[in-house]
Amino acid sequence: MTASIKVGLLGLGVVGGGTWKVLQNNAEEIARRAGRRIEITAVAVRDVEKARKLLGDSPIRVTTDGLEIARDPQIDVVVELIGGETLAREWVMEAIRQGKHVVTANKALLARHGNEIFDAASDNDVMVAFEAAVAGGIPIIKAIREGLTANRIEWIAGIINGTTNFILSEMRSRGLPFNTVLAEAQRLGYAEADPTFDIEGVDAAHKLTLLASLAFGIPVQFDKACIEGIAKLEAEDIQHAARLGYRIKLLGITRRRDDGIELRVHPTLIPMNCLLANVEGAMNAVLVYGDIVGPTLYYGQGAGEMPTASAVVADLVDVARLDSADPEHRVPHLAFQPDAVKDIPILEADDIESSYYLRLRVEDRPGVLSDISRILAEAGISIGSMFQEPGEPGEASIIFLLHLAREGSVSVAIEKMSKLPFVRSEVTRLRVEELI
Ligand code: NDP
Ligand code: HSE
Repeated sequence: MTASIKVGLLGLGVVGGGTWKVLQNNAEEIARRAGRRIEITAVAVRDVEKARKLLGDSPIRVTTDGLEIARDPQIDVVVELIGGETLAREWVMEAIRQGKHVVTANKALLARHGNEIFDAASDNDVMVAFEAAVAGGIPIIKAIREGLTANRIEWIAGIINGTTNFILSEMRSRGLPFNTVLAEAQRLGYAEADPTFDIEGVDAAHKLTLLASLAFGIPVQFDKACIEGIAKLEAEDIQHAARLGYRIKLLGITRRRDDGIELRVHPTLIPMNCLLANVEGAMNAVLVYGDIVGPTLYYGQGAGEMPTASAVVADLVDVARLDSADPEHRVPHLAFQPDAVKDIPILEADDIESSYYLRLRVEDRPGVLSDISRILAEAGISIGSMFQEPGEPGEASIIFLLHLAREGSVSVAIEKMSKLPFVRSEVTRLRVEELI
């Protein structure tokens, strides 16, 4: 067997610890696949004592200085699992400059600095592999980058944040309060170091940004994503959605249109009988629509120690197999050849097209519905259905499902409705997608 490939691990937390365990436990099986052993020789952490305890009597070198690992001439691959954008970027860029391959689970790093990192990797003839950065253990990068290459991908819709899906599922099925479920997601190792990244939809947008680049051959453009998280979602809307035959999920949606690409993350009503609506807990699922193959769906554990480590180790096996391959003939980082990446515009929020759910509390008196309907009609928006719920004495909640409309038109209509004298609440707006 060829000499082992030497790995420097930056981070030994949830994912780093899992990666170390997988490489220990499945060493034989992995070597049979890779054609050589994958050997961790050095680890960088903050707390050396804690790391030593986990590593037991193994001869792995432990340091607090990731640069030392990035510059170690004995190391072939640097696996970045510390998270964040500052040190991670510095250490990854140095490893690349030193001619080392990089494996990372850090979607924030790639969504913000991916163009720079992939360019540097190409210039230095090294690979940057990031299967673990999107949808945990699901091999979605491999599927899009290699399995679907015959297709012009039309759209992707996915549940790509385990923490928020876990929160929404537990709140709905067990009636648990938001903060209790979030604490449990943190205990289980699903949440980001800063859980607002999960709750506010930022983590899902990082991942969606990468999926869009892989699907459409565009540069990584996180700053153009439209992002809305689950923090403002109200139990009342979850119940109304159920009554209408929908479930609310935090979806990442990216769609190719004639005038550009939609890139958006938001709570979304989806029909209860569609497969994505039944993805519960920390599970993830990604629905990809290709013009040749039609819809394909990828499902699995989207967060946590072992599922994520599974993806990290899969990347390590790829790197071990392709280390000696001609760089020109490796699969391009973003699926398309670098000179074929196109600057297709990302559409502004106002240009998104979707169906909508609106809820507003009004004074219960004649003329209310006709005034609201007139505003919607003036904005060119067609009502699909509506119902009214009694509220406090003299008040009612009105819930509308609107047909496909431009987001900008819906915003104008909402602004006008909010000024009507009989409207007693803010207008809640959620997007509705029928999917397939
Ligand atoms: P953890 O917080 O569990 O682990 C982070 C590790 O990095 C720890 O070992 C920590 O050291 C080390 N570290 C942090 N800062 C430094 C530093 N300045 N110098 C040296 N070492 C440092 O994070 P996760 O394992 O959960 O996440 C790691 C990455 O994987 C993140 O990018 C995350 O987004 C991504 N990811 C996480 C998933 C999950 O389910 N948890 C799933 C998919 C991706 P110490 O132990 O000493 O504190
Ligand atoms: N915090 C992320 C999630 C980890 O909950 O999905 C996996 O990327």
